Amino acid sequence: QLADSLYILNGFAQKFFSDALFNTEEGQDIGLSYLKERGFNEEIMRKFQLGYCPDQRDTFARAALAAQYNPEYLQKSGLVVLRDEKLIDNYRGRIIFPVHNQTGKVIGFGARIIRSNDRAPKYINTPENEIYVKSKILYGSYQARQAIDKADECLLVEGYTDVISLHQAGIENVVASGGTSLTIDQLRLVRKYTHHLTIIYDGDNAGIKAALRGLDLALEEGLDVKLVLIPDKEDPDSYVRRIGAAAFRDFVAANKKDVILFQLEVALKDAANDTNKKAAVVNQVAETIARINKAEDFTRQQDYIRQSAELLHIEETGLHTLVNKYIRE
Ligand code: GTP
Ligand code: MN
Ligand code: MN
Ligand code: MN
Ligand code: MN
Repeated sequence: QLADSLYILNGFAQKFFSDALFNTEEGQDIGLSYLKERGFNEEIMRKFQLGYCPDQRDTFARAALAAQYNPEYLQKSGLVVLRDEKLIDNYRGRIIFPVHNQTGKVIGFGARIIRSNDRAPKYINTPENEIYVKSKILYGSYQARQAIDKADECLLVEGYTDVISLHQAGIENVVASGGTSLTIDQLRLVRKYTHHLTIIYDGDNAGIKAALRGLDLALEEGLDVKLVLIPDKEDPDSYVRRIGAAAFRDFVAANKKDVILFQLEVALKDAANDTNKKAAVVNQVAETIARINKAEDFTRQQDYIRQSAELLHIEETGLHTLVNKYIRE
């Protein structure tokens, strides 16, 4: 009941914001020209149902109240907030990115500021409520579903604009995590469509750390995880725009690294000539490989043992014994 009301309200809001973007002077002058300047075409804007919230106190709130929407639900949805006992629009002057569930219903929104500044957050997202549960959401999964199935691969990026840019470039098997580390529910959602997950994150330290954080969970879900790092100071959106769709595809194909071996390389670099540290790395890699604990993945496990032993300059049989020890634990 409450959930249904929120879906209906969000659907109303999505239409209101899209109408404001395409059919009002303010929306066109500010929202549409911003999106066009960034290189998005109208077809892709409509596919993702983008919108604009007028930069006035309560344009949306008034429209919603006039349409008989319940003030309590309006607040729960995060679309409006109470200030000085009045309901005002929460996303004033922002670009609106609706977030859809698996069946295409709008469950929430991301709202981006037009000109970044230090006083306001770049994005405002819907607060947790009955239908917007952050840990279960992968942005773009509704639009990507068929393409993921067809490619038998899911690309994972950080942001809304990364997903949309890649779609516009014809790469449609892509979803976004919102920049946080992956949760078990998000990984299970991916696993429903494919067991091939390719994480495409910024090459900075934060991006690498975020990418590695969900690794153990992913392995336990039976996912085969590859990692692609985008060159410094770029993200998939800016990079595909700069080099073009074909070069981007080539870049991904050429730079796809197995995430277990990548993790090992990072740890080895850190250990350098420290024998204690290196022993810890050996243990860690054995533990990670042991997590691929599915009968169907026996060959994969053997491959990892061989390749890791080579990188570590140790005997394959020794690593094998250690992996078996962790499997038994
Ligand atoms: P653009 O700057 O529009 O290209 O967005 P981006 O996706 O490149 O942003 P960024 O790489 O900074 O962040 C990645 C994702 O993290 C965004 O798409 C948002 O989902 C989320 N994010 C970024 N900034 C904020 C913020 O200020 N607040 C919240 N809640 N989330 C944010
Ligand atoms: Mn498959
Ligand atoms: Mn396969
Ligand atoms: Mn960006
Ligand atoms: Mn980014």
